[in-house]
Amino acid sequence: MATRKPTSRKPAKPPRKPARGVREGEAPEPVDDSLAALREAAAGCKRCPLWKPATQTVFGEGPQNARVLVVGEQPGDAEDLSGHPFVGPAGKLLDRALDELGIDRKRFYVTNAVKHFKFERRGKVRLHRSPAASERNACRIWFDRELATVRPDVIVCLGAIAARSVFGSRFALMRERGRWHELPDGRRAFATVHPSYVLRQRNDEDRHAAYAGLLEDLSLLRGLGRK
Ligand code: URA
Repeated sequence: MATRKPTSRKPAKPPRKPARGVREGEAPEPVDDSLAALREAAAGCKRCPLWKPATQTVFGEGPQNARVLVVGEQPGDAEDLSGHPFVGPAGKLLDRALDELGIDRKRFYVTNAVKHFKFERRGKVRLHRSPAASERNACRIWFDRELATVRPDVIVCLGAIAARSVFGSRFALMRERGRWHELPDGRRAFATVHPSYVLRQRNDEDRHAAYAGLLEDLSLLRGLGRK
């Protein structure tokens, strides 16, 4: 999803760059299957080339026993610099929508299908680029491990890349958004548009309509993350 932000901000903390000794195309093995161990290992991931230009791996965050797992596409500029998922403009819009629904995001586990920011430099700006299939596949182990550890009852996919990582490559977001689907393992899941889709609309009318649609889809979560 397109986010255009200047590069001038500094990371809040020193980024966790991959441990020495990890070869290109590989990742450290987590010491156990806790979220802390997964996060530590993912910080050293070099399974695809995205680790190199990125500031750091942005792993998922939230309670290990969350009932709801929200998955987006990949970190944006603000997430890459801060190391936290959904803290930039798209994250703020997500927070606003959940807030309007009386839902506390802190009760959800929030992550991305791809854990490094993929971008192209244009002067001072880093423009979002969509992750390639090879990059999405390389990152898949982390999402699978997050799912196995958090074991959520419900998965919410934000945008087409997230939806395809949960429902498969034939999922048609605009046709199937906003309704429950049952996954082969019995979990329930639904997809909606990515918050950046709302932000990208060209005029207020379209933006309001896109936001109303996002809100309506997310209202499926009512009762699952009450404040
Ligand atoms: N977009 C995403 O898909 N994820 C983030 O964390 C931020 C923006």
